Amino acid sequence: MPLKNINNFQKSNEYRKKIHDLIPGGAHTYSKGDDQFPQLSPAAITHGKGSHVWDLDGNEYIECLGGLGSISLGHAYEPVVKRVIEELWKGNNFSRPSVIEMEMAERFLSLLPGHDMIKFAKNGSTVTTAAVKLARAYTGRKYVARPAEHPFYSYDDWFIGSTEVKSGIPEEIYKLTLTFKADDPDSLQQLFNNYPNQIACVISEPEKYNPVTPELFKQLIDIAHRNGALWITDEMITGYRSYFPGSFVKFGITPDLATWGKGIANGFSFCALTGKKEIMELGGIRQKGKEKLFLISTTHGGETCSIAAALATLEEFQKHNVIGHNHHLGKLYMQGAQILIEKHQLTHYIKILQFPWHVSLAYFDLNNQPSWGLRTLFHQEMIKRGVLFQGIFCPHFSHTEEDVEYILNAFDESCVIFRKGLEDGWEKYLIGEPIQPVFRKYI
Ligand SMILES: Cc1ncc(COP(=O)(O)O)c(C=O)c1O
Repeated sequence: MPLKNINNFQKSNEYRKKIHDLIPGGAHTYSKGDDQFPQLSPAAITHGKGSHVWDLDGNEYIECLGGLGSISLGHAYEPVVKRVIEELWKGNNFSRPSVIEMEMAERFLSLLPGHDMIKFAKNGSTVTTAAVKLARAYTGRKYVARPAEHPFYSYDDWFIGSTEVKSGIPEEIYKLTLTFKADDPDSLQQLFNNYPNQIACVISEPEKYNPVTPELFKQLIDIAHRNGALWITDEMITGYRSYFPGSFVKFGITPDLATWGKGIANGFSFCALTGKKEIMELGGIRQKGKEKLFLISTTHGGETCSIAAALATLEEFQKHNVIGHNHHLGKLYMQGAQILIEKHQLTHYIKILQFPWHVSLAYFDLNNQPSWGLRTLFHQEMIKRGVLFQGIFCPHFSHTEEDVEYILNAFDESCVIFRKGLEDGWEKYLIGEPIQPVFRKYI
């Protein structure tokens, strides 16, 4: 299929002009914001089907990071939509729990050896924050440890205060979040030595930038346990991606608590906190006389249509080898991209990071420094050719081998402009401003 040449963003530009007067940031996650995309890009999406999306000007794209990784099966994926509609006709929210809550709880927990209880929520941040609260209550300690290199666990104060974006958060709160070097047992042990008997938990993604072995995973958890802290595994990205249901089951090692979201309901707002009974039960109402812990309590937590989406998604993963399909496409893309990078002699300037289920790129200039200008230029060229690209390919069940072939053809041509930008300066080829980091102190 010939590559597209998209250059009409007229309606997108009108949208961009207006939206910031209505919505601070112009979007409901900063990762979707205008400062994360080149100027020559769609400002908003009208609809999607399978692996494709359409913008306000009618331009069609293959989307590489389906809904920031929340799409695991595909846009408007029929079995999910059908199940959601069936559920909607029965009503969407009641004054007592809906029976579908028990069904979902049993089905999801049956996938997780060693985890006995579950709480639902609408956002990943809600469940990671709840996990931290639970760990603090369980241990009676106040500090939280997280890997310094990992970018995001929650928009709540305990986490976001530990990034550059501290505005509005009292120092007393963010001082309680400590960092260690990811996947480094010595660095974690050192943190426990520096704060003896004060760290409630470690929260970490099970696999981020480096391949993690079960031995290393166990070693890190053992350090936390020896020091009286809980281990929280955040499976937001790895869940239904690295493995079904997630990395900790793949490793065969059970963390105390785990948090889930993104792909587990194919884009619907369904997230979960799971864990061992003795800890989770603190959020219950059965232990008479014990101090009450307000764990997760939200009006929309039991919204039936999202739970129906989660059930349908789970069933699709059980029916089909979705993980096999996704990993196959991820590997095809990784191998193809590596060949193209070598062909254009860009091995020092475009680097492919792990994993087949979440392949990201890093871009460097002639001085080997990360370059936001070159990054934006590359994305501009991919988008122009009909690939909605943010540097990450997160394959889902509706992506096809043809999609990967198309993405790689666009990649090939984009490398030509990237090289020119590398040699002559990206300013010559980029229209508009470079992308900026989401986690930055100043706008
Ligand atoms: C690892 C991780 N944890 C937690 C979150 C927060 O999830 P949400 O955006 O649903 O609040 C994210 C979101 O990107 C994430 O990547």
